[in-house]
Amino acid sequence: MLFKQQALLRQKLFVLGSLAIGSVLYLVARVGTLDRLQPICPIESRLPPREPEQIPLRTLQFKRGLLHELRKGNATKEQIRLHHLIQQLPRAIIIGVRKGGTRALLEMLNLHPAVVKASQEIHFFDNDQNYARGIDWYREKMPFSFPHQITIEKSPAYFITEEVPERIFKMNSSIKLLIIVREPTTRAVSDYTQVLEGKERKNKTYHKFEKLAVDSNTCEVNTKYKAVRTSIYTKHLERWLKYFPVEQFHIVDGDRLITDPLPELQLVERFLNLPSRISQYNLYFNATRGFYCLRFNIVFNKCLAGSKGRTHPEVDPSVVTKLQNFFHPFNQKFYQITGRTFNWP
Ligand code: A3P
Repeated sequence: MLFKQQALLRQKLFVLGSLAIGSVLYLVARVGTLDRLQPICPIESRLPPREPEQIPLRTLQFKRGLLHELRKGNATKEQIRLHHLIQQLPRAIIIGVRKGGTRALLEMLNLHPAVVKASQEIHFFDNDQNYARGIDWYREKMPFSFPHQITIEKSPAYFITEEVPERIFKMNSSIKLLIIVREPTTRAVSDYTQVLEGKERKNKTYHKFEKLAVDSNTCEVNTKYKAVRTSIYTKHLERWLKYFPVEQFHIVDGDRLITDPLPELQLVERFLNLPSRISQYNLYFNATRGFYCLRFNIVFNKCLAGSKGRTHPEVDPSVVTKLQNFFHPFNQKFYQITGRTFNWP
Protein backbone atom coordinates (compact mmCIF):
# COMPACT_ATOMS: atom_id res chain seq x y z
CA MET A 1 0.00 0.00 0.00
CA LEU A 2 2.76 2.42 1.12
CA PHE A 3 4.80 1.41 -1.87
CA LYS A 4 1.83 2.13 -4.19
CA GLN A 5 1.35 5.62 -2.67
CA GLN A 6 5.05 6.41 -3.05
CA ALA A 7 4.96 5.33 -6.70
CA LEU A 8 1.92 7.55 -7.30
CA LEU A 9 3.68 10.51 -5.63
CA ARG A 10 6.81 9.93 -7.74
CA GLN A 11 4.66 9.83 -10.87
CA LYS A 12 2.95 13.14 -9.94
CA LEU A 13 6.31 14.78 -9.17
CA PHE A 14 7.64 13.58 -12.49
CA VAL A 15 4.68 15.09 -14.41
CA LEU A 16 4.95 18.41 -12.52
CA GLY A 17 8.70 18.50 -13.05
CA SER A 18 8.34 17.84 -16.78
CA LEU A 19 5.75 20.60 -17.04
CA ALA A 20 8.03 23.09 -15.25
CA ILE A 21 11.06 22.18 -17.40
CA GLY A 22 8.91 22.35 -20.55
CA SER A 23 7.66 25.84 -19.63
CA VAL A 24 11.18 27.10 -18.92
CA LEU A 25 12.44 25.67 -22.22
CA TYR A 26 9.54 27.30 -24.09
CA LEU A 27 10.24 30.71 -22.50
CA VAL A 28 13.95 30.50 -23.29
CA ALA A 29 13.21 29.51 -26.89
CA ARG A 30 10.60 32.29 -27.25
CA VAL A 31 12.90 35.03 -25.92
CA GLY A 32 15.75 33.67 -28.01
CA THR A 33 13.78 33.90 -31.22
CA LEU A 34 12.50 37.43 -30.67
CA ASP A 35 15.61 38.97 -32.06
CA ARG A 36 15.72 36.68 -35.02
CA LEU A 37 12.19 37.13 -36.28
CA GLN A 38 12.55 38.57 -39.74
CA PRO A 39 9.39 40.40 -40.80
CA ILE A 40 8.33 40.91 -44.38
CA CYS A 41 9.74 44.18 -45.62
CA PRO A 42 8.24 46.25 -48.40
CA ILE A 43 11.01 47.94 -50.31
CA GLU A 44 10.99 51.51 -51.52
CA SER A 45 13.42 52.16 -54.32
CA ARG A 46 14.56 55.41 -52.70
CA LEU A 47 15.89 53.64 -49.62
CA PRO A 48 19.52 52.53 -49.38
CA PRO A 49 20.43 48.83 -49.52
CA ARG A 50 20.60 47.14 -46.17
CA GLU A 51 24.04 47.23 -44.57
CA PRO A 52 25.61 44.13 -43.07
CA GLU A 53 24.58 43.33 -39.50
CA GLN A 54 26.69 45.46 -37.20
CA ILE A 55 24.83 45.31 -33.95
CA PRO A 56 26.06 42.85 -31.39
CA LEU A 57 23.33 40.61 -30.03
CA ARG A 58 24.38 41.45 -26.51
CA THR A 59 23.09 44.96 -27.04
CA LEU A 60 19.47 44.04 -26.51
CA GLN A 61 20.13 42.66 -23.06
CA PHE A 62 22.25 45.66 -22.19
CA LYS A 63 19.69 48.05 -23.47
CA ARG A 64 16.87 46.50 -21.49
CA GLY A 65 19.01 46.17 -18.40
CA LEU A 66 21.69 48.75 -17.96
CA LEU A 67 20.14 51.53 -20.00
CA HIS A 68 16.89 51.06 -18.13
CA GLU A 69 18.76 51.45 -14.85
CA LEU A 70 20.46 54.52 -16.26
CA ARG A 71 17.15 56.10 -17.12
CA LYS A 72 15.97 55.50 -13.60
CA GLY A 73 19.23 57.04 -12.37
CA ASN A 74 20.38 53.79 -10.74
CA ALA A 75 23.48 53.09 -12.81
CA THR A 76 26.75 54.08 -11.27
CA LYS A 77 29.46 56.25 -12.82
CA GLU A 78 31.61 53.13 -12.77
CA GLN A 79 29.09 51.25 -14.93
CA ILE A 80 28.96 54.18 -17.35
CA ARG A 81 32.75 54.17 -17.62
CA LEU A 82 33.01 50.40 -17.79
CA HIS A 83 30.55 50.06 -20.65
CA HIS A 84 31.81 53.16 -22.49
CA LEU A 85 28.40 54.80 -22.32
CA ILE A 86 28.22 58.28 -23.74
CA GLN A 87 25.71 61.02 -24.40
CA GLN A 88 25.59 61.45 -28.15
CA LEU A 89 24.08 64.14 -30.30
CA PRO A 90 21.15 62.78 -32.31
CA ARG A 91 21.98 61.22 -35.65
CA ALA A 92 18.32 61.41 -36.61
CA ILE A 93 15.57 63.81 -35.57
CA ILE A 94 11.81 63.51 -35.90
CA ILE A 95 11.22 67.12 -36.88
CA GLY A 96 7.43 66.89 -37.18
CA VAL A 97 4.66 67.13 -37.90
CA ARG A 98 2.78 67.98 -34.73
CA LYS A 99 -0.11 65.50 -34.29
CA GLY A 100 1.28 63.35 -37.06
CA GLY A 101 2.13 60.53 -34.64
CA THR A 102 5.56 61.79 -33.59
CA ARG A 103 5.40 60.21 -30.10
CA ALA A 104 4.23 56.84 -31.44
CA LEU A 105 7.02 56.86 -34.03
CA LEU A 106 9.71 57.67 -31.45
CA GLU A 107 8.49 55.07 -28.98
CA MET A 108 8.20 52.40 -31.65
CA LEU A 109 11.68 53.11 -33.03
CA ASN A 110 12.98 52.83 -29.50
CA LEU A 111 12.05 49.14 -29.67
CA HIS A 112 15.10 48.73 -31.88
CA PRO A 113 18.20 47.68 -29.93
CA ALA A 114 20.37 50.19 -31.77
CA VAL A 115 18.10 53.17 -31.12
CA VAL A 116 18.02 55.25 -27.97
CA LYS A 117 15.38 57.92 -27.61
CA ALA A 118 15.52 61.27 -25.88
CA SER A 119 12.33 60.89 -23.86
CA GLN A 120 11.45 64.58 -23.60
CA GLU A 121 10.97 67.07 -26.41
CA ILE A 122 14.13 69.12 -26.04
CA HIS A 123 13.13 72.20 -28.08
CA PHE A 124 16.75 73.14 -28.57
CA PHE A 125 16.59 74.47 -32.11
CA ASP A 126 13.23 76.25 -31.97
CA ASN A 127 13.65 77.97 -28.64
CA ASP A 128 16.09 80.90 -28.71
CA GLN A 129 16.83 80.66 -25.00
CA ASN A 130 17.68 76.96 -25.21
CA TYR A 131 19.68 77.47 -28.39
CA ALA A 132 21.75 80.17 -26.69
CA ARG A 133 22.76 77.58 -24.05
CA GLY A 134 24.92 75.91 -26.69
CA ILE A 135 25.47 72.47 -28.15
CA ASP A 136 26.93 70.98 -24.95
CA TRP A 137 23.71 71.78 -23.13
CA TYR A 138 21.86 69.94 -25.88
CA ARG A 139 24.19 66.94 -25.67
CA GLU A 140 23.73 66.74 -21.92
CA LYS A 141 19.99 66.39 -22.48
CA MET A 142 20.61 63.19 -24.41
CA PRO A 143 20.34 59.72 -22.86
CA PHE A 144 23.39 57.53 -22.29
CA SER A 145 24.06 55.08 -25.08
CA PHE A 146 26.66 52.73 -26.48
CA PRO A 147 28.86 54.31 -29.14
CA HIS A 148 27.35 52.22 -31.96
CA GLN A 149 23.79 53.16 -31.03
CA ILE A 150 21.97 56.10 -32.51
CA THR A 151 20.17 58.70 -30.47
CA ILE A 152 16.88 60.05 -31.77
CA GLU A 153 15.12 63.16 -30.64
CA LYS A 154 11.65 64.46 -31.52
CA SER A 155 10.44 68.03 -31.31
CA PRO A 156 7.58 68.60 -33.79
CA ALA A 157 7.87 72.38 -33.50
CA TYR A 158 11.11 72.12 -35.50
CA PHE A 159 9.25 71.50 -38.74
CA ILE A 160 7.41 74.83 -38.76
CA THR A 161 9.97 77.10 -37.07
CA GLU A 162 11.82 79.40 -39.46
CA GLU A 163 15.31 79.28 -37.89
CA VAL A 164 15.51 75.55 -37.27
CA PRO A 165 16.80 74.13 -40.60
CA GLU A 166 19.86 76.39 -40.59
CA ARG A 167 20.59 75.63 -36.94
CA ILE A 168 20.38 71.87 -37.43
CA PHE A 169 22.49 72.14 -40.57
CA LYS A 170 25.18 73.92 -38.56
CA MET A 171 25.19 71.08 -36.02
CA ASN A 172 25.29 68.24 -38.56
CA SER A 173 24.77 68.76 -42.26
CA SER A 174 24.34 65.01 -42.88
CA ILE A 175 21.78 64.33 -40.16
CA LYS A 176 18.76 62.16 -41.06
CA LEU A 177 15.41 63.86 -40.82
CA LEU A 178 12.11 62.10 -40.23
CA ILE A 179 8.76 63.70 -40.97
CA ILE A 180 5.56 61.89 -40.06
CA VAL A 181 2.47 63.21 -41.80
CA ARG A 182 -1.25 62.48 -41.69
CA GLU A 183 -4.03 63.47 -44.04
CA PRO A 184 -3.84 67.27 -43.59
CA THR A 185 -7.47 67.94 -42.60
CA THR A 186 -7.46 65.14 -40.01
CA ARG A 187 -4.16 66.47 -38.67
CA ALA A 188 -5.64 69.98 -38.38
CA VAL A 189 -8.65 68.64 -36.46
CA SER A 190 -6.32 66.64 -34.20
CA ASP A 191 -4.32 69.82 -33.56
CA TYR A 192 -7.52 71.69 -32.75
CA THR A 193 -8.67 68.88 -30.40
CA GLN A 194 -5.44 69.12 -28.42
CA VAL A 195 -5.78 72.89 -27.96
CA LEU A 196 -9.48 72.52 -27.14
CA GLU A 197 -8.69 70.01 -24.41
CA GLY A 198 -6.15 72.41 -22.92
CA LYS A 199 -8.71 75.22 -22.87
CA GLU A 200 -11.35 73.00 -21.32
CA ARG A 201 -8.94 71.92 -18.62
CA LYS A 202 -8.53 75.60 -17.70
CA ASN A 203 -12.31 76.10 -17.83
CA LYS A 204 -11.94 78.41 -20.81
CA THR A 205 -14.31 78.56 -23.75
CA TYR A 206 -13.02 78.07 -27.26
CA HIS A 207 -14.33 78.61 -30.77
CA LYS A 208 -15.62 75.76 -32.85
CA PHE A 209 -13.18 74.32 -35.38
CA GLU A 210 -15.35 75.54 -38.28
CA LYS A 211 -15.13 79.14 -37.05
CA LEU A 212 -11.35 79.04 -36.80
CA ALA A 213 -10.69 77.19 -40.04
CA VAL A 214 -12.92 79.30 -42.27
CA ASP A 215 -12.76 83.09 -42.56
CA SER A 216 -16.31 84.26 -41.89
CA ASN A 217 -15.89 87.37 -44.11
CA THR A 218 -14.59 85.70 -47.22
CA CYS A 219 -15.86 82.17 -46.60
CA GLU A 220 -12.38 81.00 -47.67
CA VAL A 221 -10.04 78.77 -45.68
CA ASN A 222 -8.36 80.82 -42.97
CA THR A 223 -4.66 80.46 -43.68
CA LYS A 224 -3.83 82.52 -40.59
CA TYR A 225 -5.08 79.69 -38.40
CA LYS A 226 -2.01 77.77 -37.21
CA ALA A 227 -3.66 74.35 -37.44
CA VAL A 228 -4.31 75.01 -41.13
CA ARG A 229 -0.85 76.43 -41.84
CA THR A 230 0.93 73.50 -40.20
CA SER A 231 -0.89 71.12 -42.55
CA ILE A 232 0.52 72.84 -45.65
CA TYR A 233 3.43 70.45 -45.52
CA THR A 234 5.07 71.46 -48.76
CA LYS A 235 5.49 75.10 -47.67
CA HIS A 236 7.50 74.07 -44.63
CA LEU A 237 9.43 71.37 -46.42
CA GLU A 238 10.55 73.85 -49.08
CA ARG A 239 12.29 75.93 -46.39
CA TRP A 240 14.15 72.81 -45.22
CA LEU A 241 15.20 71.97 -48.76
CA LYS A 242 17.26 75.15 -48.89
CA TYR A 243 19.64 73.41 -46.49
CA PHE A 244 19.21 69.66 -46.90
CA PRO A 245 18.87 67.47 -50.01
CA VAL A 246 15.61 65.54 -50.29
CA GLU A 247 17.46 62.23 -49.75
CA GLN A 248 18.12 63.24 -46.16
CA PHE A 249 14.40 63.21 -45.38
CA HIS A 250 12.18 60.23 -44.86
CA ILE A 251 8.44 60.68 -44.90
CA VAL A 252 6.46 58.40 -42.60
CA ASP A 253 2.79 57.72 -43.26
CA GLY A 254 1.21 58.60 -39.92
CA ASP A 255 -2.18 57.18 -40.93
CA ARG A 256 -0.61 53.81 -41.69
CA LEU A 257 1.44 53.95 -38.49
CA ILE A 258 -1.92 53.86 -36.70
CA THR A 259 -3.46 50.98 -38.64
CA ASP A 260 -0.43 48.90 -39.62
CA PRO A 261 2.75 50.20 -37.98
CA LEU A 262 5.28 47.48 -38.82
CA PRO A 263 5.84 48.23 -42.55
CA GLU A 264 6.31 51.91 -41.76
CA LEU A 265 8.86 51.09 -39.07
CA GLN A 266 10.71 48.77 -41.42
CA LEU A 267 11.04 51.58 -43.96
CA VAL A 268 12.52 53.79 -41.25
CA GLU A 269 14.94 51.04 -40.20
CA ARG A 270 16.19 50.97 -43.78
CA PHE A 271 16.43 54.73 -44.02
CA LEU A 272 18.52 54.75 -40.85
CA ASN A 273 20.70 51.91 -42.19
CA LEU A 274 19.71 49.66 -39.34
CA PRO A 275 19.16 45.92 -39.57
CA SER A 276 15.51 44.96 -39.33
CA ARG A 277 14.90 44.14 -35.68
CA ILE A 278 11.44 45.45 -34.90
CA SER A 279 9.02 42.61 -35.47
CA GLN A 280 5.31 41.91 -35.26
CA TYR A 281 6.00 40.47 -31.81
CA ASN A 282 6.89 43.97 -30.59
CA LEU A 283 3.53 45.42 -31.61
CA TYR A 284 0.10 44.25 -30.55
CA PHE A 285 -3.30 45.76 -31.11
CA ASN A 286 -5.02 46.79 -27.90
CA ALA A 287 -8.77 46.81 -28.55
CA THR A 288 -9.52 48.88 -25.45
CA ARG A 289 -7.14 51.64 -26.52
CA GLY A 290 -8.00 51.20 -30.19
CA PHE A 291 -4.30 51.49 -31.05
CA TYR A 292 -1.20 49.39 -31.35
CA CYS A 293 0.82 49.13 -28.17
CA LEU A 294 4.44 48.14 -27.61
CA ARG A 295 5.84 44.88 -26.34
CA PHE A 296 9.48 45.07 -25.30
CA ASN A 297 9.67 41.57 -23.88
CA ILE A 298 7.64 38.93 -22.10
CA VAL A 299 7.06 41.11 -19.06
CA PHE A 300 7.20 44.69 -20.32
CA ASN A 301 4.39 46.13 -22.48
CA LYS A 302 3.18 49.67 -22.83
CA CYS A 303 0.56 51.73 -24.61
CA LEU A 304 0.91 55.43 -25.32
CA ALA A 305 -0.61 57.89 -22.85
CA GLY A 306 -4.31 58.73 -23.08
CA SER A 307 -3.45 62.13 -24.57
CA LYS A 308 -2.58 60.23 -27.76
CA GLY A 309 -5.66 59.09 -29.62
CA ARG A 310 -8.29 61.60 -28.53
CA THR A 311 -11.81 61.54 -29.88
CA HIS A 312 -12.15 64.34 -32.43
CA PRO A 313 -15.20 66.59 -32.48
CA GLU A 314 -17.59 66.25 -35.41
CA VAL A 315 -16.79 68.78 -38.10
CA ASP A 316 -19.30 70.18 -40.60
CA PRO A 317 -18.78 68.06 -43.77
CA SER A 318 -18.83 71.16 -45.99
CA VAL A 319 -15.88 72.56 -44.01
CA VAL A 320 -14.05 69.27 -44.30
CA THR A 321 -14.54 69.33 -48.08
CA LYS A 322 -13.45 72.97 -48.26
CA LEU A 323 -10.25 72.16 -46.39
CA GLN A 324 -9.58 69.05 -48.44
CA ASN A 325 -9.93 71.07 -51.65
CA PHE A 326 -7.66 73.73 -50.23
CA PHE A 327 -4.91 71.27 -49.29
CA HIS A 328 -5.16 69.30 -52.54
CA PRO A 329 -2.67 71.30 -54.69
CA PHE A 330 -0.20 71.56 -51.82
CA ASN A 331 -0.43 67.80 -51.32
CA GLN A 332 0.31 67.19 -55.01
CA LYS A 333 3.45 69.27 -54.71
CA PHE A 334 4.43 67.45 -51.54
CA TYR A 335 4.11 64.07 -53.33
CA GLN A 336 6.16 65.38 -56.22
CA ILE A 337 9.00 66.65 -54.02
CA THR A 338 9.18 63.71 -51.64
CA GLY A 339 8.43 60.89 -54.03
CA ARG A 340 5.87 59.52 -51.57
CA THR A 341 2.24 59.56 -52.63
CA PHE A 342 -0.73 59.26 -50.31
CA ASN A 343 -4.40 58.60 -50.95
CA TRP A 344 -5.39 61.94 -49.54
CA PRO A 345 -8.48 63.53 -51.15
P1 A3P B 1 -5.12 61.83 -32.24
O1 A3P B 1 -5.03 62.17 -30.79
O2 A3P B 1 -5.67 62.89 -33.09
O3 A3P B 1 -5.79 60.51 -32.49
P2 A3P B 1 1.69 63.31 -31.84
O4 A3P B 1 2.41 62.28 -31.01
O5 A3P B 1 2.53 63.81 -32.96
O6 A3P B 1 1.09 64.37 -31.01
O7 A3P B 1 0.50 62.55 -32.58
C1 A3P B 1 -0.62 62.10 -31.88
C2 A3P B 1 -1.35 61.12 -32.75
O8 A3P B 1 -0.61 59.90 -32.81
C3 A3P B 1 -2.70 60.73 -32.21
O9 A3P B 1 -3.61 61.63 -32.77
C4 A3P B 1 -2.87 59.29 -32.69
O10 A3P B 1 -3.88 59.12 -33.67
C5 A3P B 1 -1.54 58.96 -33.32
N1 A3P B 1 -1.04 57.63 -33.02
C6 A3P B 1 -0.37 56.86 -33.91
N2 A3P B 1 -0.07 55.68 -33.38
C7 A3P B 1 -0.55 55.67 -32.13
C8 A3P B 1 -0.54 54.70 -31.09
N3 A3P B 1 0.03 53.51 -31.28
N4 A3P B 1 -1.13 55.01 -29.92
C9 A3P B 1 -1.73 56.21 -29.76
N5 A3P B 1 -1.74 57.18 -30.71
C10 A3P B 1 -1.18 56.92 -31.89
